[in-house]
Amino acid sequence: MVLAKVWTLTRRPNGIARKEDFACIEEELSPCNDGEVIVEAEYLTVDPYMRFMTRRIPLNSAMIGSQIARIIESKNAKWPVGKHLLCHSGWRSHSKISAETLELSDSWAGCMELSDIGDLPKSLWLGILGMPGITAYFGFLEICQPKAGETVLVNGAAGAVGSAVVQIAKIKGCKVIAFAGSEEKVAWVKELGADYSFNYKTTNVGEALGQAAPEKINCYFDNVGGEFTAEALPHMADFGRISVCGAISTYNDEAKDFGRAALNSPFSEGTLIWKQLKIEGFLALRWKERWLEYLEQMKKWISMGMIKYKETITQGFDNMPDAFIGLFKGDNIGKAIIIP
Ligand SMILES: NC(=O)c1ccc[n+]([C@@H]2O[C@H](COP(=O)([O-])OP(=O)(O)OC[C@H]3O[C@@H](n4cnc5c(N)ncnc54)[C@H](OP(=O)(O)O)[C@@H]3O)[C@@H](O)[C@H]2O)c1
Repeated sequence: MVLAKVWTLTRRPNGIARKEDFACIEEELSPCNDGEVIVEAEYLTVDPYMRFMTRRIPLNSAMIGSQIARIIESKNAKWPVGKHLLCHSGWRSHSKISAETLELSDSWAGCMELSDIGDLPKSLWLGILGMPGITAYFGFLEICQPKAGETVLVNGAAGAVGSAVVQIAKIKGCKVIAFAGSEEKVAWVKELGADYSFNYKTTNVGEALGQAAPEKINCYFDNVGGEFTAEALPHMADFGRISVCGAISTYNDEAKDFGRAALNSPFSEGTLIWKQLKIEGFLALRWKERWLEYLEQMKKWISMGMIKYKETITQGFDNMPDAFIGLFKGDNIGKAIIIP
């Protein structure tokens, strides 16, 4: 009998989530039936989208999320003990996975066997080689369609997605203006190649953009939304492209959840029309069929030293809610990972 620890949502957060909104329970996993496996989490991830899930999943159910896990019990010849996989079991230390889930060919719904990434840590499947990396790569290249010599604005630039966008934009020959929330982050983003890097907490965003981009911004990869976007919009160039990846500054505000746009929307219609801007939101899963193509490219860039990554590791399954809450306080540099 395997004893699993599971973080459940016990209360809907009001504003930034608190540890008391979650409870850690124990669950006994009965031995595997035919076709089933039991896995043990080796790396778990916390991601900003989970704040949305705290409004949507039933109370007292497990928090949703992905993990890299190792099979510790198996009654499935295709998935033997010792194999690693990426699965979406939620905030669980151990999980039983059904034969049906293992057979799904859709890796974003089922499980994915991990291919060889050499000496790179398996945690990267949750970061630069996984969903956040795909988000950065396709969300930037497909939606912004950057051209060499153009000016790119990235916020949340020291995070999992933003730090990848900064570097991809440099690889594509763009001028990059980046914003992040601490001096340490600003310094790292500069190391990654950003031409200008600002701390949005201590800098007037509009003034900084006026100085750093007198030529105006062609591509804006937005992770933050809200006030930041309202400040940035007047600095867009004619025919600028905005990739609306995220709006983390609004995620803790119930009034800004899906629905009718607020009257204080950051997107001034006059500016959109006058500058003929193109704005597109996206979900990374749009490109899930192109994960392998992405993987080959990203592994090559990493091996050539053209893409760097960082992880902020939280030790201990018991600290998962703290790692999640930390996303909204800027605790992480690069990808937030939990080692149980
Ligand atoms: N569309 C998609 O398919 C998709 C997929 C993945 C992620 N996303 C979005 O991409 C964005 C980044 O995600 P990530 O996984 O890479 O997270 P992340 O950037 O690694 O972590 C979150 C970071 O957001 C910043 N932040 C938190 N509250 C903020 C606020 N009020 N104003 C400004 N910045 C704030 C913090 O950095 P600072 O210290 O710099 O404030 C924090 O470290 C999020 O908006 C997320 O929802 C979208």
